[in-house]
Amino acid sequence: MKEGLEARIREHIKQDGPISFAEFMEIALYDQEEGYYVTPSVGRDYYTSPSAHPVFGALVAIQLEEIWSLIGQPESFPVVELGAGRGTLGRDIRDYALNISSDFAEAIDYIQVEKHWGKIPELPIEGCFISNEFMDALPTHIVVKKDGSIQEVMVTIQGDSLTEVLMDPLPGVLKHLDEELNVGPEKLILPEGYRTEVNLEAPRWMAAVAKALNRGIVLTIDYGYSATELYSPERRKGTLLCYHQHTYNEEPLQQVGCQDITTHVDFTALIRTGEKKGLSTKGFITQREFLNNLGIQHYIRSLGNLGLSSLEYQANLYAIQELIRSEGMGSFRVLLQTKRMEGAKLKSLQKETDSRYKPPTMVPKLRLEHLPLYQAKYSLTEKTIGEEISLWPPT
Ligand SMILES: C[S@@+](CC[C@H](N)C(=O)[O-])C[C@H]1O[C@@H](n2cnc3c(N)ncnc32)[C@H](O)[C@@H]1O
Repeated sequence: MKEGLEARIREHIKQDGPISFAEFMEIALYDQEEGYYVTPSVGRDYYTSPSAHPVFGALVAIQLEEIWSLIGQPESFPVVELGAGRGTLGRDIRDYALNISSDFAEAIDYIQVEKHWGKIPELPIEGCFISNEFMDALPTHIVVKKDGSIQEVMVTIQGDSLTEVLMDPLPGVLKHLDEELNVGPEKLILPEGYRTEVNLEAPRWMAAVAKALNRGIVLTIDYGYSATELYSPERRKGTLLCYHQHTYNEEPLQQVGCQDITTHVDFTALIRTGEKKGLSTKGFITQREFLNNLGIQHYIRSLGNLGLSSLEYQANLYAIQELIRSEGMGSFRVLLQTKRMEGAKLKSLQKETDSRYKPPTMVPKLRLEHLPLYQAKYSLTEKTIGEEISLWPPT
């Protein structure tokens, strides 16, 4: 437990009064000295698609190459990644790009934007904005319906502990919620006791991205829902979850700075903001559909022809299948928005109708920087798989 961080939050509340949950989350995750994200977190408490297998980056690279071609194969093709974390996705995209076309690989100008370094370039971008599990990590407000009206959950202190208190919502929170509840044919009415999140940061990022993009695509990959799904009566406890050592809990005021805090993304808010700011919504599909349309099944099929040891084969197969597992990362959503690309038909949105096997020219394999998901799942030890473990990690 990071006692210094929690003590500082308590001191702040003592002096200035209760803080919004969004402010609490900002400090708990991103405090420059002791916030959760100060130390690398992927692998410790959770894993993401890029950290699972390089086929993810390879298939994204195929989609990016198509955009690059559609906009006339410019000499410079900026790819701006928001919340790049350890940079694995960028490396996998650039590595695989070399295999697609050397001109494309040379054109890629990969720009990483992280919380404490890198920012969106000021020049208009003719290329791509991409993010994977970035929007779900942004600080969010929390509201509760109490006695017929919306109240905001604030963080305060009771004795030596952090605790929740309900107060009138901050400006902007009610307005945003009202817009989201009004998206369907009939306004959604939240039942008494309903608790949910209001993420003001995610649409702000989308507005900044839409402004910076002159031509190209915005690819947002994350777990989340449309507003109608997110604010449906059965989701009455909201979507906030904390991750610590691959287990989850709903206690964000505990283990401050030592656990991740996430919420599901409201994709309707991103779509609406994008459209207001000049982006066209091209598609909103699951990660499973996205990767299947880009040909992931051919990569799975090719694994058997690579001469891998049994451990390498199983580890690669397991990790690739994780990317499309329906109850797992396969259910993540992919939002594709474009600017000045009218009429473009994107590969990732076309269902493959030809089931014949098309072997990829190259199948990227797990490297040291990807997580050994298969070994972790089956607790493989030297004893259980004998000498083969010496082949891991593959070189
Ligand atoms: C869940 S991690 C995902 C990392 C990586 N994209 C992946 O898929 O493995 C979220 C990342 O978003 C970054 N992030 C959060 N807020 C940010 C901000 N305001 N600006 C830039 N990056 C931010 C975090 O530092 C963290 O690296």
